[in-house]
Amino acid sequence: MTGAFVIAVDGPAASGKGTIATRLGEAYGLPVLDTGLLYRAVGVLAKRAGEDLDDETACAAAAVTLTADQLGDPALRTREAGELASRVAVHPRVRDALLDFQRTFAGQEAGAILDGRDIGTVIWPQAPAKLYVTATPEVRAERRWKQLQGQGEAVTYEDILADIRRRDARDGGRGAAPMRPAEDAVLLDTSEMTIEQAADAARRIVEAARARW
Ligand code: DC
Repeated sequence: MTGAFVIAVDGPAASGKGTIATRLGEAYGLPVLDTGLLYRAVGVLAKRAGEDLDDETACAAAAVTLTADQLGDPALRTREAGELASRVAVHPRVRDALLDFQRTFAGQEAGAILDGRDIGTVIWPQAPAKLYVTATPEVRAERRWKQLQGQGEAVTYEDILADIRRRDARDGGRGAAPMRPAEDAVLLDTSEMTIEQAADAARRIVEAARARW
């Protein structure tokens, strides 16, 4: 046994990783950090300040001012915030500014669950349990579309599918901490699964990791 029990849940947008992380948190009594919220908050802050999102220095300055109490803002859950997040997330200095917060959360004695894109590769590569949650772009677009409709956003399925493809390309193609499975991550394709089935499958993966820990 080395360090606290940390579960890294990585994967693309709307793959089900957020729901899985929440369910695992309930099952194991572990605190959960949705790291996408950090990038969403930086994107929204920079946009509100009128900054150019391609300006690394300005975005990094916004990232430095970020505090935990800003993460509950419902404006971070919108479609636009997801796009802003993906854009600011390409900047290495933005990612660096968010490192300490994520590592402090991961390092807490009780253990922790973090969901994101680079938890198993960069933030906490020593995590004893790593999941990489995927689903086809079409299935993810369908899920995200329904979720956004529930929030009252007027969008079409085609718009969301285009968003997802663009974000996959940007998040996976960037130089700094690109989205990819860690070598020792267990892949979980949720395309054909209900939420319950995906949560159960995730539990089994974590159980196996705990048995080895
Ligand atoms: O998980 P999400 O959709 O809330 O993430 C929004 C964006 O933030 C995502 O498109 C890329 C970025 N992100 C990242 O680069 N690294 C993370 N660990 C989490 C999110």
